[in-house]
Amino acid sequence: MWSTQIPGISTAHISIAGAIICLILLTLQRSLTVRWKGRERAPSVTHPPKEKEQKQPKPKPDLPYLLQFPPSRRHVLATLPGFEKVDIQPVAPETLKSQALPTVTTPDFDKYGFYTPTGFSTQDIKKLGRFPDYAALSGVRDPNPVPENWDIAKAKFRPYRPFRWGYHQHMALMKYDPDYWVELTSTYHTTMSQRRSLLAQHGSRIFFCNPCAVHACRELMEMVLSFLVKRYPSHFSLSPSADGLTPNALFHNRLLSTTTNLLTTDPLQVLFDNVPEDYALMLRNESDGLYYLRAAIVCSSVGWYVAQHRDSPLKAIHANVPDYESKMAFSMDRWFSRLPTDTPVSRCSWGLEDWEAFHTSPCPQTGEWTRSAFKGREGELDMKDIKLRCDAQTLRRLPVSAAVVFNFKAIFTGLEELREERYVPELLGKVLKEGKRELVEYKCEEHVRRKGVEALEGWAREQREKGWVEEGWEVGTLEESPFFPGWEGRWRGEQGF
Ligand SMILES: *[C@@H]1O[C@H](CO)[C@@H](O)[C@H](O)[C@H]1NC(C)=O
Repeated sequence: MWSTQIPGISTAHISIAGAIICLILLTLQRSLTVRWKGRERAPSVTHPPKEKEQKQPKPKPDLPYLLQFPPSRRHVLATLPGFEKVDIQPVAPETLKSQALPTVTTPDFDKYGFYTPTGFSTQDIKKLGRFPDYAALSGVRDPNPVPENWDIAKAKFRPYRPFRWGYHQHMALMKYDPDYWVELTSTYHTTMSQRRSLLAQHGSRIFFCNPCAVHACRELMEMVLSFLVKRYPSHFSLSPSADGLTPNALFHNRLLSTTTNLLTTDPLQVLFDNVPEDYALMLRNESDGLYYLRAAIVCSSVGWYVAQHRDSPLKAIHANVPDYESKMAFSMDRWFSRLPTDTPVSRCSWGLEDWEAFHTSPCPQTGEWTRSAFKGREGELDMKDIKLRCDAQTLRRLPVSAAVVFNFKAIFTGLEELREERYVPELLGKVLKEGKRELVEYKCEEHVRRKGVEALEGWAREQREKGWVEEGWEVGTLEESPFFPGWEGRWRGEQGF
C-alpha cells in the first residue's frame, strides 16, 4: 500500500506525518469547539511509535532545531539557465542560521547574503526572478494535462472514501500524485462564489499574510498558477504584459472570463480569486527553528477562523490536544524541520454531516456554533440529507522560501452514492457501529450516525446478495484506499473520458 510508495520517508516518518496533518486539521476544527459536547479532545489522534520516542535523545533544553534545516535545493541552480557560472557551494547550517532571512521583521530582499532555510540566498532569489522552473527547484514533476475531452461541467473529484478498519487507523497518508495538487470540478463556480461572499463577510479572519511571508506567498502563487496552466491548458494561460516587456505578467482564467495583472495583485488574492482551495503557510522562525502560521486563506472551516492561529507555532495550535506536548511535540517539530521539498504528502479526513457544512462561523460572543442543521428536530432527518464530508489535504515544502504549505478542500458526497460502491457501505457501517466511540462521535452526531448505519446495513446486505462482496470477505481497509475497487472506471465513465 501507500506506506512503501513515498520515496524518502520511512514508515515511522509517515505515521508521524499522518498524525501531524490529522492533528493540525482536527485541532483547527476543534479549537473553538470546546463547548461542543462539553469535551475537548481530538480522538482520532494517535501517537508516534513508542519506540521512536525512546530512541530520541532527550531534546536539549534549549532550541534543538536552531541548526536543523531541510535538505538544501541550492544545487539545482547549476541546472538552470543563467546560473552556469555561479559557484553553487552548499551553505553551512551555521551560516543559514546567522544569515537567516528574518520572520520577525520584514525581510529586505535587496540586502545580499541572507538565506532561506533551503539554502537560497537573496542574490539567488533575485536572479531566479518570477516563475522560475519550480519542477526542477522542488524535485516534483509538472502535472500532465487533463484528457482532451475533459469537461469541467462533468468533472468530479476522485471518490475519496478514506475509511479504515483495523490497526494503523492513524496512518492515513496517501501517495501524493503531482496531477492532483489542485482539482477542479463542476463545483468550481459555486465554490468560488461562496468564497467571495465569505471573504466579504469575514475579511482578515479568513485571509491574512504577514510581511515575512510575502515571498512565500508569491512563490506559492507562481507554483499554483504554473500547475493550473499545465494541468488545464484550455482554461488557464499566462501572457506577457501589454508592453511585452514582462513575461508571465497576466493570468487568464477562461472559466471566470477574468484576467489578473500579476504585477499589481496581491499573490494570495490571486489564489483566492482563481483557485477553489484553502491554503495555510507555516514559516520557520529563525530564533527557535520552529514553524509558525504566517499566512492563510481558509474558507472551509467549521466552527473556527484561521486567524485564531495567526502567528502560532505548531505547539500552540495543538494546545488543546491531550499529551501533545509530552508525547508528540518533539517528533512533529522534528518532522517539520526536515521535510524535503520533493516529498509532498496527501491525506484525507472525513465526517458525516446533515448538511453541506462548508463554513460555519462561531458566535462572536460565546464562541459556540452548531454542527447540525437539524438541531431540535433530529427525527426529521432524511437519508437524502446526509453528506459525506472529506477534507482532502496536501502538505509540501516550497523549494525556495522553504515555507511548509497545506492546501485543502472540502468535498461533499451524498451518502446514497456509496450504495453502488463495492465494499464501501459495509466498511463504513462497521466503522460507525464498532469504531472507537470518541472517534465516531467526532466524525458525526448521533442522529446522523443512527440514520447512516441503518442505510449502510441495508446496502451492505444488498451487495452481499448481489455477490459484489464475496462470502468470506472480512471487513478491513481496502487495498484501493482511499478509493475502492473499480472506482476509476466508474469515475471516468461519469465524466466521459
Ligand atoms: C520566534 O521565536 C522566538 C523564540 O521562541 C519567540 O520569542 C518569537 O516570538 C518568535 N517570533 C515570532 C515573530 O513569532
